[in-house]
Amino acid sequence: MTTLITGGTVVSSTGSSRQDVLVDGERIVALLEPGTQTLGPITADTTIDATGKYVIPGGIDAHTHMEMPFGGTNASDTFETGSRAAAWGGTTTIVDFVVQAHGQRVQDQVALWHEKAAGNCAVDYAFHQIIGEVDDESLKAMDELIGEGITSFKLFMAYPGVFLSSDGQIVRAMQTAAGNGGLIMMHAENGSAIDVLVQQAIERGDTTPYFHGVTRPWQTEQEATHRAVMLAELTGAPLYVVHVSAKQALARIAEARDAGQNAFAETCPQYLYLSLEDNLGARSEQWGDFEGAKWVCSTPLRSRAEGHQDELWKYLRTGDVTTVSTDHCPFCMKDQKELGVGNFAKIPNGIGSVEHRLDLLFQGVKDGRISLEKWVDVCCTTPARMFGLYGRKGVIAPGADADLVVYDPNGHTSIGVGEGRTHHMNMDYSAWEGYEIDGHVDVVLSRGTVVKDTSGYVGSKAHGRFVKRELSQNLI
Ligand code: URP
Ligand code: ZN
Ligand code: ZN
Repeated sequence: MTTLITGGTVVSSTGSSRQDVLVDGERIVALLEPGTQTLGPITADTTIDATGKYVIPGGIDAHTHMEMPFGGTNASDTFETGSRAAAWGGTTTIVDFVVQAHGQRVQDQVALWHEKAAGNCAVDYAFHQIIGEVDDESLKAMDELIGEGITSFKLFMAYPGVFLSSDGQIVRAMQTAAGNGGLIMMHAENGSAIDVLVQQAIERGDTTPYFHGVTRPWQTEQEATHRAVMLAELTGAPLYVVHVSAKQALARIAEARDAGQNAFAETCPQYLYLSLEDNLGARSEQWGDFEGAKWVCSTPLRSRAEGHQDELWKYLRTGDVTTVSTDHCPFCMKDQKELGVGNFAKIPNGIGSVEHRLDLLFQGVKDGRISLEKWVDVCCTTPARMFGLYGRKGVIAPGADADLVVYDPNGHTSIGVGEGRTHHMNMDYSAWEGYEIDGHVDVVLSRGTVVKDTSGYVGSKAHGRFVKRELSQNLI
């Protein structure tokens, strides 16, 4: 089965040019001069007309939490619903986190994640491993997982008693990664300091969602980021700091990069667009001052008055923000976020965005914040390089998987759960309600199969496959 995508502009992380893309089976086999099919012997079984549109590599969302257990409940998207929403939004690979909390065995959890995902994904998927308890057994598992295609390990400096690793444990895990070539991913917030501030706020009666943000101030993120950078330098481990929201934390990572360290920053659409004041502090008729629970996530949304959002866009342009992932961790308001009525500390942490990342970042192109190529770079190509997928994913080149998106820069997308809006995630609200995007995901191919076209989702949950990852291809 061959498919020819004609008339479009192929956008890569380094440039854009008018080319036709020929797909045979699951792979891209050629990039052709526009119109070649009418001149030569090439006839494809199917033709997709991309005239006036962009053709980009399928998006890679390197940070999702499908069905993640958190705060006494589970993230509301299953692999089935979440990967389908990803397909709607032009994301053709998700990298989800296997969770090992205190008291659990890493390899048991990996088996559980394979069981949950297999046969249930609309698009391809891979795994990172959360190491919630660093000990001899989990360190040994880190070595084993490299051979199983799970080559990155998330540690937490937050959530004491659940996920938090001590500095000594972090050093041991980093030494292991430095030895086996793995990548350390860090949730950088000072959890012990935050717990004190949270306790004091609750005792004062400051219990609304807004205080989730207030009790996780930028100093707690910058301090932890600095510590992570220093411990990574000490041990020689490459460091990727996840969901960075504070401009001061980013400045610290930029400084480490300038010094030649393998330090990388990920941010998320919520930190680029949303804020402590507008969102965590929001009120509504339905939810009153609990409305802000919709945007409770960690790290938290930051103050617009302090200018974090503009600085994050700047660091995207300088290259010090390496990737944009969603940290997709959705919870419904009903029965889930509601657990924290009267005590913000009990609100499950997370926002759902897996469907909207490409659109939201494309709006950054339209608004003059980033270039077209940077859009592809941070959403598709660098995530592939960062996480050992490049060659197969993240690039439009012969031999690569035919994960492709036809994106209409003159189309329109209205995000939200309201009438006529786009929302396919399993949530009873949208964190992005009312966002209007000057662009549209028209057609999505995953390994040569159209999974979304202008009629809607046409994929199947049996399509997605587990992808074994190589070591990072993005280290200095
Ligand atoms: O609020 C968040 N980020 N929830 C997901 C878990 C994590 O720390 O990434
Ligand atoms: Zn985290
Ligand atoms: Zn996360």
